[in-house]
Amino acid sequence: MNKHGDYSPINIFMEYFKEINLPSWPMLQQFCLKKWDGTFNASAMIFKDRNLDCIASTIEHDIANQLGVKAKVKTAIMFINDANFVQDIHVDGFDLKRVNAANTALNLPVLNCDHGPMYWYDGDYYLTETENMKLKYLKINWREEPALTVVKIINRPTFVKIDIPHHVENRSSKPRLMLSIRFTEDFLLENIPPIV
Ligand SMILES: [Fe+2]
Repeated sequence: MNKHGDYSPINIFMEYFKEINLPSWPMLQQFCLKKWDGTFNASAMIFKDRNLDCIASTIEHDIANQLGVKAKVKTAIMFINDANFVQDIHVDGFDLKRVNAANTALNLPVLNCDHGPMYWYDGDYYLTETENMKLKYLKINWREEPALTVVKIINRPTFVKIDIPHHVENRSSKPRLMLSIRFTEDFLLENIPPIV
């Protein structure tokens, strides 16, 4: 474990996350903060119409400049975690076959993300569909004790795997806000160069 409390993956050939440089990150943080009314009536805010267009064009421009890739943003969701919130372990997706479900997301910390680690797990399981506060995701039903494989504090723009069991914890007494971007075509983490 390093000084940030992060583990390295057991399977060194699989990448669970990849940090990138995103110059518009501070501007997007401010944009998202202004949209949040400070309540926990919903576990997420789904950006639509002009708000989505604004976020999408900003990120697509940055990604073209930073990674040299033409990307198209599909969705932008800000996850709103209350103090000490522990999310269920899950796989992202709407149906069991994960039709059109993204395998990776670009997560952009908005507020208080320094004490909210993301965890990934391995083990034998099957999925069932479920819904929590209007957000659909796939529930994990373990056939054996899950094995924790990786822990990472996502405190800068980072691509993360969302097609394998994972969850976040907010280990603080303040709300945690994370903007999560999905693209029409998935990024292969292995193809993204490490930041220097
Ligand atoms: Fe997720």
